[in-house]
Amino acid sequence: METIAGKNIIIGVTGGIAAYKTLILARLFINNEAILKVVMTKAAESFIGPLSFQAISGSKIGLDILDPVFDSGMDHIELARDADLIIIAPATANTIAKIAHGFSDNLLTSIILASTSPVMICPAMNNNMWANQATIDNINILKKRGVHVCGPAYGELACSDSGAGRMEEPEFIFEDSLRLLSENDFSDTRFLISAGPTQEPIDPVRYITNRSSGKMGYELARAARIRGAEVTLVSGPTNLPGPVGVEMINIRTAKEMSDAIKKKFTDCDICIMAAAVGDYRSQKQSEQKIKKDMDVLNINFEKNPDILLGLGKQKGDKFLVGFAAETQDLIKNATKKLFKKNLNMIVANDVSRTDAGFQTNTNQVHILTEKTAIKLPLMSKFRAAHGILNSIKAMRNE
Ligand code: PMT
Repeated sequence: METIAGKNIIIGVTGGIAAYKTLILARLFINNEAILKVVMTKAAESFIGPLSFQAISGSKIGLDILDPVFDSGMDHIELARDADLIIIAPATANTIAKIAHGFSDNLLTSIILASTSPVMICPAMNNNMWANQATIDNINILKKRGVHVCGPAYGELACSDSGAGRMEEPEFIFEDSLRLLSENDFSDTRFLISAGPTQEPIDPVRYITNRSSGKMGYELARAARIRGAEVTLVSGPTNLPGPVGVEMINIRTAKEMSDAIKKKFTDCDICIMAAAVGDYRSQKQSEQKIKKDMDVLNINFEKNPDILLGLGKQKGDKFLVGFAAETQDLIKNATKKLFKKNLNMIVANDVSRTDAGFQTNTNQVHILTEKTAIKLPLMSKFRAAHGILNSIKAMRNE
């Protein structure tokens, strides 16, 4: 799922200090062209004015089940029916208890009771309230019923305590919700993806590396997770936050990446090596910082193991995808790697371009298999990731 344009989202706001952050969440859905309706409880109105949500969503806010303008008798039933996703953020202990026990004493709880749509709750409360057995039981009831619980996060709370009870950040909630809006066409599929550069140390302060930012591999992990997969991302050093819901393994050197990949490979269904693994490492790593006494410094490099080549030899029925970063003879060189490394697919990247390959937010790739060659146009790395996943899906379904 590349876009949520046109999806019907209901955000329910209940009475918590985090309600102001829900404005940002609402904005994220609007910016992504979803159709948004906001419903507020009476308590929520004590924390934030309905007009703020009205200004962002562009439509009247649902406040009361007997509101003659918003809810002309049965509109809440229609709303409940049309929703692709209902998110309650923040979700207080009180509203959680009500929906766990089937109450319908306000517009929001009535919508939840009347709906068969996916529901996501983002709890926000005092840490003792969250730890109370009553809340634990209510959350378990909701989880068993298929309600998705996002958070709470750990940190400083409004009541000046600190612990588990903070509402997750709006960006995190938005990202987490995308999986509930997708077709989940990769559910029950385990991905192992590598991303980023490796760093090969020379002395305690110096290393050789390459220009990979990790963006391509992270977007692949993100897209696969949104589409329902279980994803492990083995990443070299990058400045990127780990994608929501993805298991992260952070490594530094090619040897560490090799160890991490080998450990996880047996458990995966699909492995995509998007990392720019250092081909060579310094033969010796000086224990002390190398002094600048010499005019010429010679360093001997030795070859790192080719991780992908090794995986190709033991792949069995796993689906193995490599990337090829080339500055010349793109298709010819990538095709050579496809066969030499015994891959199901290789993604060819012309890294001499300024709008594709290393560090850019866009990419233009060729997806090559033994029988097919597809050239995707220049697009965001997120869309390119979906294009690659679409090709994997098509080939696995053949
Ligand atoms: O991270 P970004 O800034 O977003 O940039 C994305 C990218 C350009 C790094 C990415 O799209 C890409 O092309 N990754 C592969 C880079 C690379 O190392 O290509 P290669 O042609 O040298 O290697 C071929 C394949 O073998 C790759 O899948 C690589 O992960 C793998 N390999 C390489 C060397 C090695 N020792 N072990 C390996 O497994």
